[in-house]
Amino acid sequence: MERLQKVIAHAGIASRRKAEELIKQGKVTVNGKVITELGVKVSSKDKIEVNGIKIEQEEPVYYLLYKPRGVVSTVNDDKNRKTVIDLFPNVESRIYPVGRLDYDTSGLLLMTNDGEFANLITHPKYQIDKTYVAKVKGIPTREDLKKLQRGVKLEDGLTEPAQVKFLSGDRKKGTAIIEITIHEGKNRQVRRMFEHIGYPVMKLKRERLAFLTLQGLNAGEHRPLTPHEIKRLLALANNGSANL
Ligand code: URA
Repeated sequence: MERLQKVIAHAGIASRRKAEELIKQGKVTVNGKVITELGVKVSSKDKIEVNGIKIEQEEPVYYLLYKPRGVVSTVNDDKNRKTVIDLFPNVESRIYPVGRLDYDTSGLLLMTNDGEFANLITHPKYQIDKTYVAKVKGIPTREDLKKLQRGVKLEDGLTEPAQVKFLSGDRKKGTAIIEITIHEGKNRQVRRMFEHIGYPVMKLKRERLAFLTLQGLNAGEHRPLTPHEIKRLLALANNGSANL
């Protein structure tokens, strides 16, 4: 048995707080009866409707995917490109990506059917670190990289301070490999940050999210998160003391 607001949040309809509001406003029924108190517990057999629409109750599932390049991080694609869902042919739950990686970016992507978990992990307030390795055109100087560390002004605002590490440079090819850790999730943020300092990204991979890595997986493969990993992620988001 779970609390009604939690079940609604898990179904991805609303955050837990919004679910509580919906209940108080009389928008939620359980087995046809309007419920306006918050303490009510329900089981997977109960029929729950929000604004007259039945919610699907599924066991929550959590996966870590090594997304390859050339795959979109959406459930459907209007251009008929391969999606991350196509990489889960044996999973029946209605999973979706937690945040997104660009079509051309590879790396670590979480997938779940738990809307509340997805909201927590992607909310900028919780500052979950994401580490990328970028191959860039040109060899940035220490000063250039300092700009990224301090934050750069993109069209949608200033980026927050980032951790940046120069990993290697190839003078002959005129390319460099840089590691960058950010906790925001602006659209195409890493590509735009490097673009801003004059070093376009040629290749981008997300190597880590908080304490999670791609270890043991090849591109296109996934594994379930362990109960301990799920707990740790939720603890990070809940107390904001991220990335231990
Ligand atoms: N930053 C980007 O530019 N692209 C991604 O896919 C993720 C972060």
